[in-house]
This record gives sequence, C-alpha cells and structure tokens, in this order.
Amino acid sequence: MNASCDIEGLAGRSGLAETGSERRGEAQQTVPSALHGRRRGRRLSNRRNSLLSTVLPRLALNVSHPIADAASLFPDRPTVLWLEIGFGGGEHLAAEAKAHPDAGYIGCEFFLNGIAKALAHIEAGQLRNVRLYEGDARAVIEALPPGSLAGIYLLYPDPWPKRRHRKRRFLSSETLERLARVMRRGAELRFATDSDSNASWSLAHILRSSDFNWNPSCAADWRLAWEGWCPTRYEAKALRSGRRPAYFTFFRK
Ligand SMILES: C[S@@+](CC[C@H](N)C(=O)[O-])C[C@H]1O[C@@H](n2cnc3c(N)ncnc32)[C@H](O)[C@@H]1O
Repeated sequence: MNASCDIEGLAGRSGLAETGSERRGEAQQTVPSALHGRRRGRRLSNRRNSLLSTVLPRLALNVSHPIADAASLFPDRPTVLWLEIGFGGGEHLAAEAKAHPDAGYIGCEFFLNGIAKALAHIEAGQLRNVRLYEGDARAVIEALPPGSLAGIYLLYPDPWPKRRHRKRRFLSSETLERLARVMRRGAELRFATDSDSNASWSLAHILRSSDFNWNPSCAADWRLAWEGWCPTRYEAKALRSGRRPAYFTFFRK
C-alpha cells in the first residue's frame, strides 16, 4: 500500500459525505464555546495547591491584550516559539522544554490538576523557557502576533466521537485559519490521535485548507512517532487499551 492509498483510506473514513452539512454548519457557526471536558479532577495535595498559588502566577500568560513581542514573555529571549494545546499533565511540554532550552514553550490547558502536575515538572527541571495559560488555547492564538510560532503540538485532543459533537473537534476549518495566522512559513503542526474518526476528520480539513501541506515520506509515515518523542499520559492509556496512535506533521505553506 502506498501513501496515497492510505490517505484515501483515511479520507474515506472521514465521513466526507458529511462535508456539505459540516461546511454549512461551519459557515454559520461562531467559535464553539465548549471544546473541552472537565476542569477539576481529584483533590489536589497541599504541594500541588501551593504550586498553583505561588508558581503559576509567575508563569501565567496574560492574553487580555494582544501580545506584541512573544519572545519577550520569557526571561531569556527564545530563538523559536512552540505552542502546546491541551498539554494534560505537561510531561511532553516539560520534556521538550528541557531538550530545547533555547526555544520557548507556551502550554495551554483547562484542567487544573494537569496544570499543577505540569508545574511540578517545570519546578523539578528548573525550566525557564515555559509559560502557561490556564484556559482555552484559542484565546492565546488570538493574542499572539502573526507568524510568531515555529510549531504547534496538538496531542490527543478530545476525540468527540459522537456525530453531534464533531464540531467541537479542534481542527475545524475556522481553527485552522486561526492557527495559520500565528504560524510562520514552514512551521509545523504536530497532531497525534488514537481516534481513527478524528484522524480522518482532521486530515480531511487539512487537505481542504489552502494554508497547510501534508507530505508523508512513506506509507507508514503517520504511524511513526517523532524523533525524541516523549509519550504522553493519554497515549500510554490508549496503548494499554489496544488503540493505535497516528502522528501527523502538517506544514504551514
Ligand atoms: C484527551 S486530553 C490529552 C492530554 C495530553 N495532550 C495527553 O496526550 O496526555 C485533552 C486535553 O486537552 C485539553 N483541552 C481541550 N480543549 C482545549 C482548549 N481549547 N484549550 C486548552 N486545552 C484544551 C483538555 O482539558 C484535556 O486535558
């Protein structure tokens, strides 16, 4: 099987038959209000609560105004900037920041327990190149200056398997336009998912977008994790349940 056969297979499973109604829905739709699940989980330990009240304010992004100079958000000006949308427990964000101290990382997450966990990683690694946003990543995307990002991670976004919830999936045509605005030419959008339905749905949107390219190097391209990949908690859960991850790298044209 070659890459294009694989792509067609995926696109076929995307429910392209729905695209007419999807497109109609998207034309009318404003940004969907709920893309996320729960905000809080188990009760936090005193240590985690203390990280939220003492360390988070120091690292938290303020997006109430447009950000003119994104590199100035960091104590040492980063050479490039990456955004992670929905970082969960922050293990991937922290590993990337540790591996690339010259780069700057902005992580966005709603889930407070995840934010507290990420703060523990950041403190343990004494990472100076991470900034966090507690809330909807779309607010950060709106505030960032054009062409400011070298890359975006969207790792295991909520799959929204029910048909009526699909418009909540992150990679809609509208979100792709917003992502394209803040990505520089050649910037990467790295997307991982364990949901075949979300993979094909998102790929169909990418293939329809005039802002992004997908150039798989071989048929198995999207089954291979990135070099130096730090598996996320959600991925470990998916593998334990027998689901197979897909890894896509899309490029900003
Ligand atoms: C299925 S979890 C995956 C978490 C992590 N990326 C991983 O792989 O372990 C999806 C996460 O995305 C977060 N999320 C969903 N929509 C978001 C948004 N618009 N902005 C920020 N975070 C979001 C959720 O709170 C949730 O923690």
